[in-house]
Amino acid sequence: MPGAGRKVRIFCVMMMLNIFICVLMGVSWNFRHDKSGSQKVETPTKRFWHQPVLSESFWNKEQQRLDFIYNPNVNAVLSSDSLIELPDWLNDTGPFNPCERDFRVPTQIPDYNSLPQRFQDFLLYMRCRTYPMLINQLHICDEKPFLLLVVKSLIPHFDRRQAIRETWGRAGIVANRSVVTVFLLGNAMSVDHFPDLLGMLGHEVALHKDLLQWDYRDTFFNLTLKEVLFLEWFSQNCPHAQYILKGDDDVFVNTLRVIELLEGLSETKAKDLFIGDVISNASPHRDQKLKYFIPESVFEGHYPPYAGGGGYLYSGELALRLYNVSQQVVLYPIDDVYTGMCLKKLGLVPEVHSGFKTFDIEEKHRHNPCIHRSLMLVHSRTPQEMLAIWPWIIHPELDCQ
Ligand SMILES: *[C@@H]1O[C@H](CO)[C@@H](O)[C@H](O)[C@H]1NC(C)=O
Ligand SMILES: *[C@@H]1O[C@H](CO)[C@@H](O)[C@H](O)[C@H]1NC(C)=O
Ligand SMILES: *[C@@H]1O[C@H](CO)[C@@H](O)[C@H](O)[C@H]1NC(C)=O
Ligand SMILES: *[C@@H]1O[C@H](CO)[C@@H](O)[C@H](O)[C@H]1NC(C)=O
Repeated sequence: MPGAGRKVRIFCVMMMLNIFICVLMGVSWNFRHDKSGSQKVETPTKRFWHQPVLSESFWNKEQQRLDFIYNPNVNAVLSSDSLIELPDWLNDTGPFNPCERDFRVPTQIPDYNSLPQRFQDFLLYMRCRTYPMLINQLHICDEKPFLLLVVKSLIPHFDRRQAIRETWGRAGIVANRSVVTVFLLGNAMSVDHFPDLLGMLGHEVALHKDLLQWDYRDTFFNLTLKEVLFLEWFSQNCPHAQYILKGDDDVFVNTLRVIELLEGLSETKAKDLFIGDVISNASPHRDQKLKYFIPESVFEGHYPPYAGGGGYLYSGELALRLYNVSQQVVLYPIDDVYTGMCLKKLGLVPEVHSGFKTFDIEEKHRHNPCIHRSLMLVHSRTPQEMLAIWPWIIHPELDCQ
């Protein structure tokens, strides 16, 4: 009878399943209880975590080193002086003084000699973050600013700075709030063949008292240095400023709108504030001809979300935390990506605000006063354009309803 054979087969399968389940339960019971029936903690006898897989790219390797050093668990183990096997690659730290030429670089980066000069310059001094200040403004924040405007500039850009002072960067009381403006400068090195502008710079410092200058070579790849040195300056000289707007010297900022936005923030929102024109899901460009080209031998991976460096707005409190965490992030040659990396380490994501137009606005709107009133920031504008736009912002008669 075919039917009876089938029943027997089903019965056998059920029995085997039952036995299997019993065995499983027995195993798990034994696993959790020793003979006396009390709970037993299983201690692994071998290392149970993965040895980190070392990246081949130089920046990533350096970052893995910092991650290891700043890992709180590792720190606890190291300070409890138990014997722990440190990976060999941690020893290989380069020169004792981080501001000396890093002799490891040419040997550790296979295509070092064929990299563009700016990479060679960057990599050799990547670990150095301390440069002397040549010009400081020790008392500029004595009256706690509501808004600190921080402008990345270059020595020869006298006209841009002056246009900013006469328009959106006018320091003093704006919309009943105290605004302070500082310009960040590096130095002009003889290798870059700059004419001598020191006398004029000295005159500008005496006249306006709003320049900060450090003694490093002011290049595109050193903008990250400008960022880190500013954060250090801020934590020492201006830690009580409530908000910071940091931008290029060719952006136009609608300071009144910015203040309005800041006044409307809730307390929780204000603490972690970081807004701008956010770029998500970006990766390094691999085309040698592009300004933002990054070779594989230097960096691999994706970029965290970051706010375009043309200009972004954040809280002073967050700036202090950024300064702290920046010590744990290896300098990266693109400054806004670097700030995104620091935010990520803090567990924060920059917030998109549609009023930050770091890629400009449509051509047909560029002469529309009311459009400009509704913006926070727009890139790029010449000094003359700034002077033309500013009256649109402050004109009380202009009806934009
Ligand atoms: C790293 O340091 C440890 C002890 O501090 C030493 O035993 C080991 O040989 C070193 N490795 C290298 C590559 O220098
Ligand atoms: C100006 O700001 C101060 C505090 O910063 C406030 O007490 C005062 O009421 C404000 N005045 C106006 C007109 O908003
Ligand atoms: C950055 O500045 C330092 C100090 O002046 C210099 O040694 C280095 O070459 C500069 N880096 C770049 C990429 O210009
Ligand atoms: C910066 O870090 C130090 C030690 O890591 C900590 O004591 C301090 O509170 C931190 N400051 C901020 C603003 O996070």
